[in-house]
Amino acid sequence: MFDLRIFSIRESGHRIHNPLTEAQLAAFGGALDLPTGARLLDLGCGSGELLSTWARDHHVTGLGVDANPDFIAHARARADELGVTDSVRFVEADATGYVADDAVDVAACVGATWIGGGLAGTLDLLRKSLKPGGMLLIGEPYWRAVPTTAEALAGCGVRSVEDYLTLPDLLASLGGLGWDVVEMVCATEESWDRYQAPQWLAMRRWADAHRGHELHDEVRRLLATEPQQYAAYTRTHFGWGLFALIARQPTSAPADGGQGPSGLAGVEAASDRARS
Ligand SMILES: C[S@@+](CC[C@H](N)C(=O)[O-])C[C@H]1O[C@@H](n2cnc3c(N)ncnc32)[C@H](O)[C@@H]1O
Repeated sequence: MFDLRIFSIRESGHRIHNPLTEAQLAAFGGALDLPTGARLLDLGCGSGELLSTWARDHHVTGLGVDANPDFIAHARARADELGVTDSVRFVEADATGYVADDAVDVAACVGATWIGGGLAGTLDLLRKSLKPGGMLLIGEPYWRAVPTTAEALAGCGVRSVEDYLTLPDLLASLGGLGWDVVEMVCATEESWDRYQAPQWLAMRRWADAHRGHELHDEVRRLLATEPQQYAAYTRTHFGWGLFALIARQPTSAPADGGQGPSGLAGVEAASDRARS
């Protein structure tokens, strides 16, 4: 797994750990027209902004799972701030292979599809937690402009152009995997900037305050290279979208009701073990 501490440092001020703005996330939540009391599962929930604001605005309920203890602490504090602690829960755990104890109306993985071994695997994983006719939310990068040189590819931190699809190809592939795309919201250059640029100020302030820390030199290295790399490559080439999907064929409920060891009881036992 990544060194989660770097993300805690660089995204310490972020409520949303993806290149969408609060306004985009709110508009998307409104567009989905979820019924009051709808139950959500969010794997890799970050600081829980989707669950907490949608609980406030649309009276949904939900469980968020994330491996980063700092983000889970932020999520719990934010739920408290918004007065939705009766509606949402946040669990610190590895979401790899996580299946809900009880099937949910909406299952989400927004920007962490490695937890299912990629896009197709994550769709399969989320489907196991979904009620028949339920909705998936998936956040995923795509090529806005496909790199045409080895330098641009390296600048994007990617080994092969095959690692991502263009937006039309991504939407087609979701269809090919058996899902209708029923809504989407995509990052703009401005929203990407709002995600990336505050990380540089957060890193600079952290580095100034932690000169002897073992991560100091790495944070300084990132700060020295990332703004130019972002402007030259990432900002130009990468798009990022949040997509709502409904199965073309009705989903069936999990055969074991999701009660296997990867359910909530399983992750809570695992996180209890990790804490002890
Ligand atoms: C790009 S961020 C997206 C966070 C959140 N969905 C959002 O959009 O604000 C990816 C998140 O996945 C979490 N994560 C990474 N690997 C994980 C794992 N194996 N299990 C649970 N969470 C994980 C990270 O801690 C991080 O919060």
